[in-house]
Amino acid sequence: MTEVLETVTAVPTAEESWWRQAAVYQIYPRSFADSNGDGMGDLPGITSRIPYLKQLGVDAVWLSPFYPSALADGGYDVDDYRDVDPRLGTLDDFAEMAAALHVAGLRLIVDVVPNHTSDRHEWFKEALASPKGSAARERYIFRDGTGPDGAQAPADWESIFGGPAWTRTADGQWYLHSFASEQPDLNWHNPEVRADFLETLRFWSDRGVDGFRIDVAHGLAKDLGDTLPSLAELETLAKDDGNHPLWDRDEVHEIYAEWRTVFNSYTPARTAVAEAWVAASRRAKYASAEGLGQAFNFDLLEADFDAAQFKDIITFNLALATESGSSTTWVFSNHDVVRHATRYGLPARNGNATKQGADWLLSGGTAPVLDAELGLRRARAATLLELALPGSAYLYQGEELGLHEVAGIPAEQRQDPAFFRNPGIDIGRDGCRVPLPWSRGGSSHGFGTGGSHLPQPDWFADSSVEAEDGAAGSTLELYRDALALRASLQSGEELEWIDGSRPDMLAFRRPNGWTSVTNFGTEPAELPAGEVLIASAPLEGGLLPGATTVWLRS
Ligand code: GLC
Repeated sequence: MTEVLETVTAVPTAEESWWRQAAVYQIYPRSFADSNGDGMGDLPGITSRIPYLKQLGVDAVWLSPFYPSALADGGYDVDDYRDVDPRLGTLDDFAEMAAALHVAGLRLIVDVVPNHTSDRHEWFKEALASPKGSAARERYIFRDGTGPDGAQAPADWESIFGGPAWTRTADGQWYLHSFASEQPDLNWHNPEVRADFLETLRFWSDRGVDGFRIDVAHGLAKDLGDTLPSLAELETLAKDDGNHPLWDRDEVHEIYAEWRTVFNSYTPARTAVAEAWVAASRRAKYASAEGLGQAFNFDLLEADFDAAQFKDIITFNLALATESGSSTTWVFSNHDVVRHATRYGLPARNGNATKQGADWLLSGGTAPVLDAELGLRRARAATLLELALPGSAYLYQGEELGLHEVAGIPAEQRQDPAFFRNPGIDIGRDGCRVPLPWSRGGSSHGFGTGGSHLPQPDWFADSSVEAEDGAAGSTLELYRDALALRASLQSGEELEWIDGSRPDMLAFRRPNGWTSVTNFGTEPAELPAGEVLIASAPLEGGLLPGATTVWLRS
């Protein structure tokens, strides 16, 4: 029996809607390819690898920040929003890269970090040099301290990376930083702040950027009021009614409506995707055509490898996308979470993506013991399922090589502020940010000629592009084949579930007779009729083995 759970009107694949079902490849620029041998990836490195991206078959790349930065938070601490970090290149290098991507038919998305600047941004330097109450301080969130001499923070809030969210300045005032102390939060009630970001959006749009990924999109609008709540009070406040003092306030959408006018002043209109960790019911607003247009859904990334969880999440998010008029987004890995090949090889742990795999990382990779083979097998099955879904698929560099998280990076080589601000509690996100292995050998497995800014493990050799290129059954070849098939099969955004008798199986049909079947269990399963197009692991005697996805054409 076939049950139609979700039908969305077919959307023409016009220039304007390229993003709706795009496969977007996230590049973490410092760890992708190093052209000048300084141990840090750079823009010319990316340009040199465009043939690889083209051959992989993605539609777009998204670059995590490449702006001038002290790298207190991997570049999410921006000194200047309209320039390139000299270690990563120049504006000319950017122009060359953008042009070469476009010649190759690839779109370019860049990260915008509007919740906070770095503490080296000229505005923050000016704020520190200016008196209390000055216009320069108004661009940020400064408050007097409490207690005698104001020596205690205005409130006992904690930053997301751990430790206090308020830091005292030399003249005694305090400033708010939701993340590291090097990332002072901006005051989005300030008209200058608002105008300046519109300028930044135009700056990059004029330089050939096709879209933007908006960092911490749910954090910009804040209303601290005159009396700050305590942390305990803050934690009792609802986060899904638009009235929380810090997160997901309704007014944030006024900012994005302004941005939309900038996006729509270009042809084709520039796109945007919100990184908004908000209640699912509140996501549609970020994704609306009057707002950013698309929002990340991290639900699959937070799920276990489980048929029922996947089905509920997919059904729910397709319905949400219909509500917002957007298309949904699927993501299993990014620069903030433990890679999915590793998560799926560890004991199941429902929810909280940023904590999944935390125990394993803290133990240096020894406990709980990782079943690396099972994890990769499941990751391949999950990705093949993902690539058959309607909506955009966001892939993170290295997942196409089946990379595992790197455990056991020595403390003195770690970089993530989450590690330094939470000693012994959070090992941080460096393990998914280790420079890519392009070749089996060399000083940094072909990443560059000058070593690697985070240490690469020996097992990178067998997971390198060189090792996997052309190798039958490799994860790289699986991604290439799947992306090519996806491009040829995809049309419309309909998904129709195919009811089966096994609760550990998930099957659905897309237009063009394209069917995807996943066995989440361990017992081999019968396949529906149809021509086998691709499988994430070999079929066994015509049956679909456990932890395997197959695409069929019927
Ligand atoms: C986002 C980024 C993360 C960064 C944080 C602060 O969550 O993805 O990497 O640390 O924002 O900018």
